[in-house]
Amino acid sequence: MDKLLIEGGVALKGEISISGAKNAALPLLCAALLTREPVSFSNVPDLNDIATMLKLLAQMGVRVGRAGDQVTLDASALTNPVAPYEMVKTMRASILVLGPLLARCGEARVSLPGGCAIGARPVDQHIKGLHAMGAEIAVEQGYVHAKSLRLKGARLFTDMVTVTGTENLMMAACLADGETVIENAAREPEVVDLANCLVAMGAQISGAGTDVIRIRGIERLNGCEYRIMPDRIETGTYLCAAAATGGDICLRGTSAAYLDAVIDKLMDAGCEIETTRDSIRLKAPVRLNAVSIRTSPYPAFPTDMQAQFMALNAVAEGAAVIRETIFENRFMHAVELIRLGADIRIDGNTAVVRGVAGLDGATVMATDLRASASLVVAGLVAKGETLIERIYHLDRGYERLEQKLAALGAKVRRVK
Ligand code: UD1
Repeated sequence: MDKLLIEGGVALKGEISISGAKNAALPLLCAALLTREPVSFSNVPDLNDIATMLKLLAQMGVRVGRAGDQVTLDASALTNPVAPYEMVKTMRASILVLGPLLARCGEARVSLPGGCAIGARPVDQHIKGLHAMGAEIAVEQGYVHAKSLRLKGARLFTDMVTVTGTENLMMAACLADGETVIENAAREPEVVDLANCLVAMGAQISGAGTDVIRIRGIERLNGCEYRIMPDRIETGTYLCAAAATGGDICLRGTSAAYLDAVIDKLMDAGCEIETTRDSIRLKAPVRLNAVSIRTSPYPAFPTDMQAQFMALNAVAEGAAVIRETIFENRFMHAVELIRLGADIRIDGNTAVVRGVAGLDGATVMATDLRASASLVVAGLVAKGETLIERIYHLDRGYERLEQKLAALGAKVRRVK
């Protein structure tokens, strides 16, 4: 298994480009299931999660073409509306095929994703919504088996804000009979990106980006060409890495518009930030101030940036309180950061981080995607060598990580 070797202590400097957003690309690729016409995407990141999704779609009968950052999907001949356990278990986002398959084929069999490292993460809200739209749903032998001749528009209310739940229901509603209203909808920019693509395919959607989305169902959608939005979490991760190392970097092909809560906290920490329509520059102070955060659905502070901010706070001046309100078990990086010399106390969903003067390199283990990113940030700060094991998590979500870090002057090497 590959490992990442980092020799820390170098302030990041320079300029890199941000890739297309993983969490926008995954639902967008599934949206191609809704039409018989080809759909072409650009700015698709080259990540393991994207490869898994393309494999999943291909085994259903979707024709997949890929060249550089372009992916063309042709779902004219969908033969097998099934998502098997072997694929779903490696990537929870596979559940995003459920709504589109059911709407397009009248039937779908999708494996339940099961638990994952950061918590139980059930999909009951996806199922409840499709059931309210008239689908017959049975959960048998670990699979969701859904059937419906044609879904019916309905008023849907999710018990909590769910990103992929909102996306699944919005996609299904595009081909339903009548109007669907999703209340308590997720407002994440990736939901808006999906809605924009669906509208380009002919769907009638209003309210994406607010907590009430209205979809008027139509009989068929057409193909389109669509450019995927930049990855706001990749953007935030490099900003944290530059902040923690005392760096000065410019990120191109991204926008601060998706990152208000994160940028506010970086400025509170003492960073200078300049933005243009498609770039962000960050200049770090000599020492960061500790900043407390509380994760919440968009537009509040994202749970996917919590781990990186824990690493940043580990070397800041003062103490920070970090509250995780989205996932019940998302502090696994804390014990690894402690191995590097951080001072962190955990009590339930709250972590108290007291900044220390410096960290020392050690061997640490990545447990999930964003936890791994926090270990990279910490490794870049730490004196000496940090060896991060199990970096397949990073390969799921960060395109060309070592190359991008090296372009910013970091000393990093992949060890086979
Ligand atoms: C998405 C993101 C993930 C991010 C998360 C929260 C993708 C592919 N992944 O995950 O990176 O960390 O949003 O911003 O976009 N829940 C239920 N029942 C459901 C659905 C959700 O109880 O049916 C709970 C979850 O366990 C969690 C909370 O709701 O506690 C929010 O989860 P959700 O927004 O659905 O996360 P994902 O969409 O899986």
